[in-house]
Amino acid sequence: MNEFALVRAVHVIAIVLWIGGVAMVTTVLLPAITRHVSESERVAFFERIEARFAVQSRWTTLAAGASGFWLVWQWDLWQRFLDVRYWWMHAMVAIWALFTLLLFVLEPLVLHRWFEARSKRDPVGTFALIRRLHWMLFTASVVTVLGATAGAHGG
Ligand code: HEM
Repeated sequence: MNEFALVRAVHVIAIVLWIGGVAMVTTVLLPAITRHVSESERVAFFERIEARFAVQSRWTTLAAGASGFWLVWQWDLWQRFLDVRYWWMHAMVAIWALFTLLLFVLEPLVLHRWFEARSKRDPVGTFALIRRLHWMLFTASVVTVLGATAGAHGG
């Protein structure tokens, strides 16, 4: 296996662990909490479980970004960012930037406290908001994976 194939494989493994985790949280964990945990405890319960996934997400986001930019640099793909036909390259960077901002800045500094305070006033609405946000991130990620896989293989 040459170094490019290896780095591409690292990129894909990082995406599988990261977006796969987002899928699990969105489609399995959040609905299960809605069914089995009382309204007033849902947000705190979710935050406790997700804290562990957040650590994994930070590492996989870093690995995806580092491997992705390495490929862009090695293959000199910068001009793709000037061409709308490569919208999936923009989508990859946009999703990565959004998650990086959420995981490294907004969640630890703002969102954690904001959700906690909001859930005291409105536990049902806050949990519904968390579920909606996860569906939006998950959908955008799946569209990106679809575009990137098709685009990288000539689709
Ligand atoms: C800084 C962010 C990122 C950069 C710079 C980047 C860059 C790249 C590059 C250069 C390729 C190879 C393209 C080709 O072979 O023509 C690639 C492939 C791919 N990337 Fe990313 N990427 C990033 C983030 C992401 C994210 C967030 C996702 C998913 C949500 C993603 C999913 C994929 C997929 C599925 C492939 C195709 C792999 C294959 O089938 O060979 N990437 N990426």
